[in-house]
Amino acid sequence: MSDSKPARHPLPEAVWPNAGEAATSLLFSPRAIGPNLTATNRGWVPAMVPWRATPDGFVTKRNVAWYGRFAAGRPGVLVVEATGIRDVPSGPLLRLGHDRFIPGMKEIVQEVKRASAGETRVFIQLIDFLGIRRRPEPAKYFERYLIPSADHRARLASVTQDDSWANATEKQVREFLAQSDDDLLDQVLTIRELESLRMGAREHINDMDLEHIRELPTVLPGLFADACARAQEAGFDGVELHYAHAYTMASFLSRLNDRDDGYGGHRAGRLRLPLEVFEKARERVGTAYALGCRFLGDEVIAGGSRIEDATYYALGFAKAGMDFLSVSKGGKFEDAKQPAVGQAAYPYTGKSGQECMPTTRIDRRGPFLRNVHLAAAIRTALRSEGLETPVVTAGGVSTFAHAEGILVAGQADFVGAARQSLADPDWWLKMRGGRGAEIRRCEFTNYCEGLDQKHKEVTCRLWDRVGLDEPNLSLSEDQHRRLLPPP
Ligand SMILES: Cc1cc2nc3c(=O)[nH]c(=O)nc-3n(C[C@H](O)[C@H](O)[C@H](O)COP(=O)(O)O)c2cc1C
Ligand code: SF4
Repeated sequence: MSDSKPARHPLPEAVWPNAGEAATSLLFSPRAIGPNLTATNRGWVPAMVPWRATPDGFVTKRNVAWYGRFAAGRPGVLVVEATGIRDVPSGPLLRLGHDRFIPGMKEIVQEVKRASAGETRVFIQLIDFLGIRRRPEPAKYFERYLIPSADHRARLASVTQDDSWANATEKQVREFLAQSDDDLLDQVLTIRELESLRMGAREHINDMDLEHIRELPTVLPGLFADACARAQEAGFDGVELHYAHAYTMASFLSRLNDRDDGYGGHRAGRLRLPLEVFEKARERVGTAYALGCRFLGDEVIAGGSRIEDATYYALGFAKAGMDFLSVSKGGKFEDAKQPAVGQAAYPYTGKSGQECMPTTRIDRRGPFLRNVHLAAAIRTALRSEGLETPVVTAGGVSTFAHAEGILVAGQADFVGAARQSLADPDWWLKMRGGRGAEIRRCEFTNYCEGLDQKHKEVTCRLWDRVGLDEPNLSLSEDQHRRLLPPP
């Protein structure tokens, strides 16, 4: 069987520890994060957007209950979902671009402390992202968005072998292209125009003709630093700068970043803005505050960054004083599937997305521990330079053997489990108490991710239709799903 052939990979057998074994495990041992914070155990719940914020980005009671529910399982660290740093409308995603968002965030922090009896450290992931539009109706694209240029006319003249295109009106160019086939469009439109037509227009960090893109290095350090200060004021134990997946900061780190203003091109140029953002944030929150980032060990796209780049970045981050490094993989727009007309591209649909949130169908290796080697390589590089910065891995962790094995082998210092924690937020506590047999095990088929893609409240297939007749149950908008996992 070839590695690329889809196959439904079985879940691994799980052997759970008894309470005594758990008590002496590395998983349930403490670990420092920076000079002033200690996590009580090595279990880490990575950021997951649950689509529960208000349309203008405020924390809801549902967000508070959601994080309280995860905290009840007492992971060492719980990272609150990607939260926007700007004060601009961005739909029902949490925001921290203004002080008015602080009170809601305080409620999350207090609820996590209460529900975990003070055991879980709560971080927040801070994100910046660029504009993206839905895929347009082709007719609308040619009528409204395409700006016919002299280059288009020249290429049309050459492809059709008809020089009269040189003098064609805008209307003539638009109408002709609107009824042309893909082959002709491929020859006449630019790569970016084809992307706008077929995927939906998307801003790139290389769009140096756009002032707000050119100025990103000037504005982002301040925006991130201000949002970090608000997170600190709200009581979060730490901040995770989102330098991973499909978003602005990851794009600066990408090998595809060819900006010519000193913030792109060679590795040092690509690393420059992420470091400047960190340094400004550090200035605001002080050296005692836990501040780190999530970034990619491998972008998994053609021409993208690989582990050699990631290792270089990790050394740069650690030497600059980051308190933790969380290593993810893939999740890019560049290889996303074409969305339907009227839908936006989703960065977890292509090969890089599958590597980010792998399912049991990915290939015969299955979804388990596919990313650990990246964290391990980074950790080895750090340690060989005498840097003790804790490294977090995630991707297909769902058994005690997975978690403990990673820690014992020295591949990471914290073990992230996103979907397994969504399937059963109590799984950490159940393992710890020798009650592993009661764990609801994630099936890694990504029903939850499908909901995320549609911007619907994220729930898990294993529990969202269970006990729907319970009194006072909080239900999804479609009224068919419970919003919180049962015990
Ligand atoms: C519903 C959902 C939402 C997610 N949202 C985020 C996010 O906000 N930020 C982030 O860095 N990763 C996000 N992820 C990715 C996870 O943090 C994690 O890296 C990925 O699911 C692989 O880990 P796992 O196999 O333990 O689930 C999300 C994953 C899921 C399933
Ligand atoms: S919906 Fe599926 S993949 Fe997602 S957490 Fe539940 S079992 Fe796991």
